[in-house]
Amino acid sequence: MNFEIKYKDAMGRVGILKTPHGNIKTPALMPVIHPGKQTLDVKKFGAEIVITNAYIMYKNEDLRAKVLEEGVHKFIDFPGPIVTDSGSFQLSVYGDIDVTNREIIEFQEAIGTDIGTSLDIPTPPYVKRERAERELEITLERAKEALDVRDKLLLNSVVQGSTFPDLRSRCADEIGSMGFDVYPIGAVVPLMESYKYSDLLDVVMASVTHLPESQPRHLMGAGHPMVFAFAVAMGCDLFDSAAYILYAKGDRFMMPTGTYKLENLVEMPCSCPVCNSYTPEDLRGMEKDKRMKLIAQHNLHISLAEIRTIRQAIVDGNLMELVEQRCRSHPYLLDGLRNFKKYTSNFEEYDPASKNSAFFYSGPESLARSEIYRHLKKMERLPPKENLLLLPRSRKPYSKSIRNDLGDFYKVQKDGSTENIWDNLQVAVVDVPFAVIPLEIDEVYPLAQNESPLVNDLDSLKFVKNQVKKYIEGFNNVIINEKVLKTFDLDFKTEYYDLDPLKININDKDKVKYIADYQFGSGSGNALFKGDIKIIKSKKTGKIRHVYDGETLIATLRASDGVFVLDREGARRLHSHLEYPKNRVAVNADAEPFAKEGKSIFAKFVIDCDINIKSNEEVLIVNQNDDLIAFGKAILCGREIMNFNTGQAVKTRKGGL
Ligand code: GUN
Repeated sequence: MNFEIKYKDAMGRVGILKTPHGNIKTPALMPVIHPGKQTLDVKKFGAEIVITNAYIMYKNEDLRAKVLEEGVHKFIDFPGPIVTDSGSFQLSVYGDIDVTNREIIEFQEAIGTDIGTSLDIPTPPYVKRERAERELEITLERAKEALDVRDKLLLNSVVQGSTFPDLRSRCADEIGSMGFDVYPIGAVVPLMESYKYSDLLDVVMASVTHLPESQPRHLMGAGHPMVFAFAVAMGCDLFDSAAYILYAKGDRFMMPTGTYKLENLVEMPCSCPVCNSYTPEDLRGMEKDKRMKLIAQHNLHISLAEIRTIRQAIVDGNLMELVEQRCRSHPYLLDGLRNFKKYTSNFEEYDPASKNSAFFYSGPESLARSEIYRHLKKMERLPPKENLLLLPRSRKPYSKSIRNDLGDFYKVQKDGSTENIWDNLQVAVVDVPFAVIPLEIDEVYPLAQNESPLVNDLDSLKFVKNQVKKYIEGFNNVIINEKVLKTFDLDFKTEYYDLDPLKININDKDKVKYIADYQFGSGSGNALFKGDIKIIKSKKTGKIRHVYDGETLIATLRASDGVFVLDREGARRLHSHLEYPKNRVAVNADAEPFAKEGKSIFAKFVIDCDINIKSNEEVLIVNQNDDLIAFGKAILCGREIMNFNTGQAVKTRKGGL
């Protein structure tokens, strides 16, 4: 089996999982098939992978004999990949089961399961630590035993540890280093049943951040579409749903925004074939079994549709916008969303450098998004200037529309200041949610590609206020427009300052250098664009397009996200300027000739890389001696590049260096 990431957003991945019974797209929902009792043919609804229970088959003599004879694929009539669970869930419900770990692994192997599961102990949330530790030891022993017992069977190994983040992380570290095929996160059903989404986030993040990036993760027992986007954003790739049947048995319709009871419906909730063909009255008048099957069909349609919506959101780069919408469906999901801020730096490690769609602000929870954190972090490493002029928001791009109607200016009273602010001046716009936006980078993603309301909430205003206060500390003279002072309630001691806004001017050469510093780190602008550079602008838009040294192209400013795409000379200059391993992906000798020809770099050929690389970022491709051989765009982030052995790591732009 192997797993490849195709698209990323937040910590979510769209991937391809290759199994002995075919390839499937992830994130994926695995409908639960009840062996012996299944009445719905889930493949007709688009299910590509299913999960069933080995223990139920093992325990029943008739089922056992039949499945051993014909194999599980024929037995449940599903040609695609089949995952089997081990009976651990029954163990958690009934307290005891009569099968050993070894027996259930051998059985799963014998029936031809694609991915089997050892007999982990699902320790419930909120138990005493001593119990969680004791049970975790058994789970780990059984995981090891499963590896010894199995022959060709692919294996799940479940992360346990109750609600102790350190135990979850320890478990993830241990099983993660043993080389399993899929890593489920277990014993979370009670958290979901009691709407403890904030604790769910803690448990999943403690697990995922310690699991290998290169294998899929399965959130066990997560079957309600309300939680799928939330869980995918944390890096979960697989879900299993018995809920589509269980909810249908209770006459309940699942929707990504919640659950509807048939007794309350006057309208059908969606436009799936069931909702298009029947009215609530029709269903209420029906015999129970027939009705149950129809509602189960709706539940499956809507769950699989939500998975497709999530995959599209990852490709579009607006997964967090979807999560923020979904988490407004229930106050406890909102609790979970608000807990995201604890993990912003984890998200930032994986979030792509630029995305296809704009950052949409949907409330103060959006302030925790990694784009804002990353922007503020990058600002810290830019070389400081002496003077600062802060302007209010205007139409984007700010540098084109900033000069009209700016009102009065005030000087913040600071000691030791000089009076001529026009020398060594930084001009920046203050706005929600990115706080401070230097005019040189007002067209760089996501500073131009973002929208927030004109009037903002107190939390956001306070956030920006605090960022501005921090930012101005490094400047000698600070001039602030009155609208900025008022909007963000900046309580500085100020005096009126007579400033002519028409003098505000950003020089193109400073601009390209500043963009490069922001993109590649301080000093990169001077290194890339040293000497007498020639800046070529688009005739149509007037925007900067190319930067040359004489006839040699150094880099092109990409119109869609305002960042530099290197050319050979740019790559050479950056390579001499940045110290190893900054922005590097180092490949082995086998890959070197291919990279030189401009072929893309597969993760398995990478021997080292800058761990801080983000997907969609410009990277330098070097050999083991750090000789520059090519350059390109990263497909994965640094950790993923190092962890994966399958799929592309870098799309090479040009070799021949
Ligand atoms: N199904 C739901 N939760 C669990 C769990 O923790 N372990 C296993 N094996 N199956 C589950």
